Amino acid sequence: MTLSFALPSDTSFPLHVIAQPDLESWLQKQSQHVQSWVAVNGFSAALGQTLLVPSASGAAEMTLAGYGTEEKRTRKRFPLAAAALSLPEGTYHIASGVPADQLEVECLGWLLAGYAFDHYASQTGGSAELVAPDGVDAARIEAMAQAEALTRDLVNTPASDMGPAQLHQAVEALAAEFGATCDAILGDALLDQNFPMIHTVGRAAEQVPRLIELNWGNSSPKLTLVGKGVCFDTGGLNLKPGASMGLMKKDMGGAANVLGLARMIMALDLPVQLRVLIPAVENAVAGNAFRPGDILTSRKGLTVEINNTDAEGRLVLADALTLADEGEPDLVISMATLTGAARVAVGPDLAPFYTDDETCALALSNAAVVSADPVWRMPFHTPYEAMIEPGIADLDNAPSGGFAGSITAALFLRRFVGSRRYIHFDIYAWQPSKEPGRSKGGLGQGPRAILNALPEMLGL
Ligand code: BES
Ligand code: ZN
Ligand code: ZN
Repeated sequence: MTLSFALPSDTSFPLHVIAQPDLESWLQKQSQHVQSWVAVNGFSAALGQTLLVPSASGAAEMTLAGYGTEEKRTRKRFPLAAAALSLPEGTYHIASGVPADQLEVECLGWLLAGYAFDHYASQTGGSAELVAPDGVDAARIEAMAQAEALTRDLVNTPASDMGPAQLHQAVEALAAEFGATCDAILGDALLDQNFPMIHTVGRAAEQVPRLIELNWGNSSPKLTLVGKGVCFDTGGLNLKPGASMGLMKKDMGGAANVLGLARMIMALDLPVQLRVLIPAVENAVAGNAFRPGDILTSRKGLTVEINNTDAEGRLVLADALTLADEGEPDLVISMATLTGAARVAVGPDLAPFYTDDETCALALSNAAVVSADPVWRMPFHTPYEAMIEPGIADLDNAPSGGFAGSITAALFLRRFVGSRRYIHFDIYAWQPSKEPGRSKGGLGQGPRAILNALPEMLGL
């Protein structure tokens, strides 16, 4: 599926979406034939239930989709997507029943229901196609769905096929599609050009570490996105136990999310100067791996004591954020699967974010609601700065004590962005079980909320 709308046609099936409390009054306006068909088939308008109603001659006359109760809908990200998944192959148009303020989200959910990760075995998503309803911005919804598919594909692809080199190729492909430029600093050149921490974290891996950069557009304001591209996180010498390592192909989820966001920004031709920075490495174990106790000097000149080689994300991001800051952008946004603590705090549904900018915080929280992309603000609690100061170096990459793990990681990153306006997302990037519109596996967390908040955050 291309995750696009179907072209309008005379033969698309009308779909009536019916909320459970409205079923009786809706039925009263229908023919005797429709009333008895609904009764005989036990259609109760429960959320996700569908029914094809044939005309007296036997041809499909209309299709019904249950929209359940308000209470049931608020528990779902994309309430109509369950119906979209259960409808037979064909082209449909929404004839009635979806409230105008829900239409865009439901359309997005419908397109996303068509997603399947089928690179390694045949899989299918929903096969019911939707004609874009009047009044929705079809191109914008398609851009959102296609960006989400890119993010999911990148995360779902295992590290055996998505190492730093393949992630680099993916950025090149995206750049080529939208006329952006893609550059990279590879291997020892990272040392020559002063990205020591990216090199140190990635040097033990077969594929050389790299800093990938995409640039697009030249109208102000300047927006810089930084995504954690740890293509696999073994933990390094502080090796993760098997259960914790199992999902670590998704440790480039931050990179996958910023690339999804970049794709939307470019597809919608937003008036910004976009820069995307991805430190792409594998945190591997070998004789030349960095060790606990090592002290690194970062690009910015701050020294960092390594107390846990598994806290590698903040190290590679720190050098990339320093470069971001040097470009004097109007806004820096980083996205990273940075800490297990963030997942413990908010679970897999919410994207926790940090910012000191009240305008950005409010814009993001508001945009999240209309984007079906929930976010939750966390505190850059300055009094915890002492926790990341070990004494022997400027910074500690893994404070002991286990308190506020997501906050201390965020504070660590903030040290590298100078006085820039900064938003940091500590995301999970993974959907643990299948939900309508959200396949099990890689998931975008935050990019649509950011996209919809950009006009307010950047004064577009
Ligand atoms: N990639 C992990 C964080 C992670 C773990 C994200 C599980 C999502 C799910 C990160 O590199 C890491 O291992 N962080 C450590 C930091 C600690 C050693 C200070 C963590 O969170 O345990
Ligand atoms: Zn780690
Ligand atoms: Zn990691």
